Amino acid sequence: MIDLAAFPRDFVWGTATSAYQIEGAVGEDGRAPSIWDTFSHTPGKVDNDDHGDEACDHYHRWPEDISLMKRLGTDAYRMSLAWPRVVPDGDGPVNAAGLDFYDRLVDGLLDAGITPSVTLYHWDLPQSLQDRGGWTVRDTAEHLAAYASVVAGRLGDRVTQWATLNEPLCSAWIGHLEGRMAPGLTDLTAAVRASYHLLLGHGLATQAVRAAAPGARVGLVTNHSTVEAASARPEDVAAAVRGDGHTNRWWLDPVYGRGFPADMRELYGVELPERAGDMETIAAPLDWHGLNYYFPVVVADDPEGPVPYAREVRVPGLPRTGMDWPVDDSGLEALLLRLTDDYGVRTLYVTENGSSFPDTVGPDGAVHDPERTRYLEQHLAACARAVRKGAPLAGYYAWSLLDNFEWAYGYDKRFGLVHVDYATQVRTLKTSGHRYAEIIRAHREASAGS
Ligand code: IFM
Repeated sequence: MIDLAAFPRDFVWGTATSAYQIEGAVGEDGRAPSIWDTFSHTPGKVDNDDHGDEACDHYHRWPEDISLMKRLGTDAYRMSLAWPRVVPDGDGPVNAAGLDFYDRLVDGLLDAGITPSVTLYHWDLPQSLQDRGGWTVRDTAEHLAAYASVVAGRLGDRVTQWATLNEPLCSAWIGHLEGRMAPGLTDLTAAVRASYHLLLGHGLATQAVRAAAPGARVGLVTNHSTVEAASARPEDVAAAVRGDGHTNRWWLDPVYGRGFPADMRELYGVELPERAGDMETIAAPLDWHGLNYYFPVVVADDPEGPVPYAREVRVPGLPRTGMDWPVDDSGLEALLLRLTDDYGVRTLYVTENGSSFPDTVGPDGAVHDPERTRYLEQHLAACARAVRKGAPLAGYYAWSLLDNFEWAYGYDKRFGLVHVDYATQVRTLKTSGHRYAEIIRAHREASAGS
């Protein structure tokens, strides 16, 4: 049961995607390669050697995709801009055709009554910047701010909701330490430096958006998991503290004015490239915070393992998604309350939440996805519980509108409320999409009547 009455009348119902995962058209209209073009075209990096060359062909099919949002009845759409479409080399000349594309898309959304929520950076760094050091160098943070100024200058008269980064944790830890995402490095020093420059870039881009679009509401989107100890053994409890530092505190403490956590600085043992004034830039007050939540984590001490020496332990009895991620909505409730009570966030959105399952189109032409429907209902129920306990939750964006390119897992992992047949690009609303539409309608009707 979802306690829909808990949500405010103006609660925002949305879906989310990102540029590289859906757009395709990687060589069109002046777009240059990003690190994900390079990574996905490196044999063996992505399952089936899939890549985003065509993806969902959203670059050409966006009017149809807006119609799908209308069918769902959503108020808002969280999308990202491809930096290499707008500023192909990462710095230097602006590509007018790239900006025009986003201009048309934003107008199309607004004409349909759907509010765009725009993320500046969802992992597709221009390859030219990677060739000059990528996130391991300070210049990249400054280039992000210059690009932010260009797009906010062009779209800021119509877009008010801006996010600087999506999930900097994945860019830094998975991209530079674990090597499972672009740029594919396995270097702790590079990863820690990248984490610093990503957060600095966030702070500088926040200033740039505000300067270029004075009405802008700027936020940051981070992904988190609750991290619990597998046992009461002191070693496991300490591992959970380290795991929490790596996954949560490293990203939230500096943004909320506490600086980088001392225990993690010591654990990483990497000197931060700090300059005077950086911490104030990183901690600029935000208008909102976006939480991406998928699963909780339980860990045990792992002194021989990689940083942070905490090994994930499988909890028996929890259902798992197609990503092999455990399903437990209580983590979402806990994290919303932690952001509220511990970090003092005043406006929160769930900017991503969803599940992957191997959906197929049935003989009746429908896509029945009961597990995703259950996941959606359970997590919305958790949101409602958090709101009842005081979380200032203003909206929920389901990940994802469409099945899409799931990074190193390619196209086999399907997160969409809409099924995509990649051979034909035919879109089919799944049962979970119909259920989401029903929930949105029910909340709207109850709000209108109250
Ligand atoms: O597909 C990704 C998205 O790009 C970022 N957050 C998690 C999603 C599912 O893995």
